[in-house]
Amino acid sequence: MNIVLGVTGGIAAYKAVLLARLFVEAGHEVHVVPTADALRFVGLPTWEAISRHPVTSSVHDDVPEVRHVALGQRADLVVVAPATANTLARMAAGLADDLLGTTLLATTAPVLVAPAMHTEMWQHAATQHNVETLRGRGIAFVGPDSGRLTGDDSGPGRMSEPTQIFAAAQSLLAGRHPHASESQIIVDQPTSDLAGLTVLVSAGGTREPIDPVRYLGNRSSGRQGVAIAAAAAARGAQVVLLSANVDASVLGEVGERSTTRVVPVGTAAELEAAARTEAAGADVIIMAAAVADYRVAEVSEGKLRKEDTGGTPPTLQLVENPDILRGLVVSRAPGQTIVGFAAETVEGEDELLERGRRKLARKGVDLLAVNAVGWIEGFESAGNTLYILDRTGEVVRRINGTKRETADGLLDSVLAVRLARDIL
Ligand code: PMT
Repeated sequence: MNIVLGVTGGIAAYKAVLLARLFVEAGHEVHVVPTADALRFVGLPTWEAISRHPVTSSVHDDVPEVRHVALGQRADLVVVAPATANTLARMAAGLADDLLGTTLLATTAPVLVAPAMHTEMWQHAATQHNVETLRGRGIAFVGPDSGRLTGDDSGPGRMSEPTQIFAAAQSLLAGRHPHASESQIIVDQPTSDLAGLTVLVSAGGTREPIDPVRYLGNRSSGRQGVAIAAAAAARGAQVVLLSANVDASVLGEVGERSTTRVVPVGTAAELEAAARTEAAGADVIIMAAAVADYRVAEVSEGKLRKEDTGGTPPTLQLVENPDILRGLVVSRAPGQTIVGFAAETVEGEDELLERGRRKLARKGVDLLAVNAVGWIEGFESAGNTLYILDRTGEVVRRINGTKRETADGLLDSVLAVRLARDIL
């Protein structure tokens, strides 16, 4: 398919390089049309090398080809990413004083826009009015997401991840969104963006025996980890799910796929042994299981009985379990992407992220999904909020939704990390 990728003048232009790469690797013909301002962020040689086509911003180049309308006329899809507030205003007004403007007026193809700007600009009445105008004309939007922005601020306005924009573009090309104007965020995921990858996921909570009938455990239902496994499988990955005491009703979400293998484990030691074995063949490891930090030093052979202690409550001696995640990071295979979780009981977002960053430093993972947990959140619930930290501790994404939605968002971030590593 012929895709025109319009790139406008925002810092997120660097992410559009990854998007162009995704389109090219999916077999599309990609014509990049940057604005003059976009070229201040990412230069012409990069766009030409990635798209493998000549690139210009001007309507005065390649005049014999009538390029100012030809690109738009030939396009099967036009994607504008990032789209600044200025670009949205120009599109709404129909301005055509550069190649992107003429291309957008000349095309009858679907148009997909990925806005990127600071929160105040996104929420400004003028911008929202322009968005409504464009949606009224059938233009589809993906994002913006909420997350860290260019300065110290964070909030709605961050451009969606390239993998999300790619997914939305594929959906439009497949004609899956004939009424794209009705929905601001397109949530369909492509079925194959994880094809060729093996994803190892742990889910549930470990149980450390005290005696044959009792254990030390936690409230993890396995829902979050199972959702990650199901989402990865739906997106084409081979999946190995290390299932720590997950109920069959929850496990059912992964279904009966030949591409998914479930390995049941009970204790942290069993989880560690299985993780070490399975890690060897994994491209991506995601540790969503709640692992007991301690186990009982001496497990009683028989049931502890009140009579045996003369009515005095027994004292349990605990010993530390190995840090499985840290061990996987230390012995990681080349090219492996490792994701940890952090479950924290805290009051505010700042403290949550601060603790997350400390955990990130200790674990050395590529991404850390930080979630607040408590009596009514995180564990067992149907929904979750994940803050995804990259290696530098930056919040690259904040995802709030069902556990399946947060799973897909997390997988988008995993793909973004792998793409960035391959390209940069
Ligand atoms: O299962 P649900 O009911 O859906 O709930 C989901 C969840 C809240 C359990 C999940 O979202 C989550 O936060 N999982 C991680 C729970 C946890 O153990 O967090 P932690 O902060 O204690 O551990 C940090 C990381 O180290 C985790 O990736 C954990 O898997 C890993 N770890 C911890 C201890 C240990 N000995 N070895 C480990 O590998």
